[in-house]
Amino acid sequence: MAEWRMTLIQTLNSSPLRELSDSFLRSIPGLPPILQTIHLLGVAVLLGSIVMLSLRILGVAAKSQSPAEMSARVFPWFFYALPVMLFSALPFFLARPQRYLVNPVFGIKAIAFVAGLCLSIWMWQQCRQIADKGVTLTLKLTAAVVIFVWVLTTLAGRWIAYADYIFWPG
Ligand code: HEM
Repeated sequence: MAEWRMTLIQTLNSSPLRELSDSFLRSIPGLPPILQTIHLLGVAVLLGSIVMLSLRILGVAAKSQSPAEMSARVFPWFFYALPVMLFSALPFFLARPQRYLVNPVFGIKAIAFVAGLCLSIWMWQQCRQIADKGVTLTLKLTAAVVIFVWVLTTLAGRWIAYADYIFWPG
């Protein structure tokens, strides 16, 4: 296993955050599924907002609104969903970092998440200048890729728990 990963796992496991997160998850009966439900609601808001805007840019949905109008309406929801996603999942990550840092599916999720975030923010910036530039082919291609990477992030999120069926079957 890569050296940096071992060091990160050891650092996180010896930090007070691990104990704190573990006892927090055990503090209230049913808290873990409640947090996962909040995480899933965050997925619904994040996907709902960014996929609708991407479909508008692709000219498939909500044609009554301009991409600039739609972007101004949906991006606040996109941005509000991010901290909800982070804080509803962080206790799981900090309580058992080895479960995630050696899990290839979590790695795929992290890469898709960062790509999704960068492309979505670029798309938002472009939508604010759309009056001058119009909907360019690059923006349309980006909108299609944005849908793909956020769906991949979601699938990987769910499949984290099933990595051993995918990578180490039998
Ligand atoms: C903000 C950063 C995020 C972190 C740190 C994070 C981390 C996690 C963790 C630790 C789990 C629990 C996995 C398990 O133990 O089975 C999880 C589940 C999940 N994540 Fe995320 N996640 C983040 C953002 C996202 C985003 C942006 C999406 C989708 C757009 C997403 C979709 C999911 C899904 C679908 C699950 C499975 C939930 C379930 O079925 O109970 N996550 N995530």
